[in-house]
Amino acid sequence: MELRHLRYFVAVVEEQSFTKAAEKLFIAQPPLSRQIQNLEQELGIQLFERGSRPLKTTEAGQFFYQHAVKLLSNAEEIKSMTKRVGIAGRTVTIGFVGSLLFGLLSRIVYLFKQQHPHLKIEMVEMTTNDQIQALKEGRIDVGFGRLRISDPAVKRILLREERLMVAVHSSHPFAAQKEGVYLADVVDQQLFLYPNHNKPNFSTQIRGVFSEYGLEPRKIREVRELQLALGFVAAGEGLCIVPESAQNIHLAHLHFIPLLDDSAVSPVFMAIRNMDESEDIRSLFDCIYQVYDLEAFTYDRNVF
Ligand code: BEZ
Repeated sequence: MELRHLRYFVAVVEEQSFTKAAEKLFIAQPPLSRQIQNLEQELGIQLFERGSRPLKTTEAGQFFYQHAVKLLSNAEEIKSMTKRVGIAGRTVTIGFVGSLLFGLLSRIVYLFKQQHPHLKIEMVEMTTNDQIQALKEGRIDVGFGRLRISDPAVKRILLREERLMVAVHSSHPFAAQKEGVYLADVVDQQLFLYPNHNKPNFSTQIRGVFSEYGLEPRKIREVRELQLALGFVAAGEGLCIVPESAQNIHLAHLHFIPLLDDSAVSPVFMAIRNMDESEDIRSLFDCIYQVYDLEAFTYDRNVF
């Protein structure tokens, strides 16, 4: 049995038809059917229910399909990782969602560069979703994002849960409530959420936090990015919910008030390829911990 057989079999299962699978694989149907017959002969079992339309797998066929998908994904991973290992002069490419740059990411990367001057560091802004694909294709080595997205080829590590805050104009009554406000207090206000593209995104996450409390904000305007949302707040146009690290963005008349609800948090995730045990990733982890120690954050040291 070769990887080619697994690819053929997976295509037939997913297309539920030999004809469509043959088109997808750019081969003729008779050789495709022969390859599947050979596979069944080698295994000594039937993989498809005979005569089923659309084609259905047998129980053994379903079992074989699930493992074949995993094996093919691992083969792709090995290919992309080997390519990266072979690149002369080590490069660590970091994918990240834009808002993290205003928090600790810039400090972590700066420290990483200082402690590892021989490494070439590249940073690429991309959504959490895109980071997963980029990791699998070997275009990045590590991703930092805020969304809980799972993929069997990727290891996702929760670094911390960052508190959320409300950004308000200094003239707004909330600006005087230094101790904080609840989501229920802000739900009827004009809210600016970001970004307005590539769902699910941070805007989706904020709506989810409201819905955890049975709340649904109605006066929402979605804008392209964090800085734009804060610009609208500074112009007195409404409020915006942001991670607390956004306090590093300074604009006249812009105030940040804590959100007091327990679930008013946004996770920070690190994602790496499942089999990646490289020394560079471990060093990057050490830098994260060093910055967390300086910030007196508590975290679980055994996650990597
Ligand atoms: C953080 O804010 O905790 C963080 C951001 C980017 C990378 C690692 C950690």
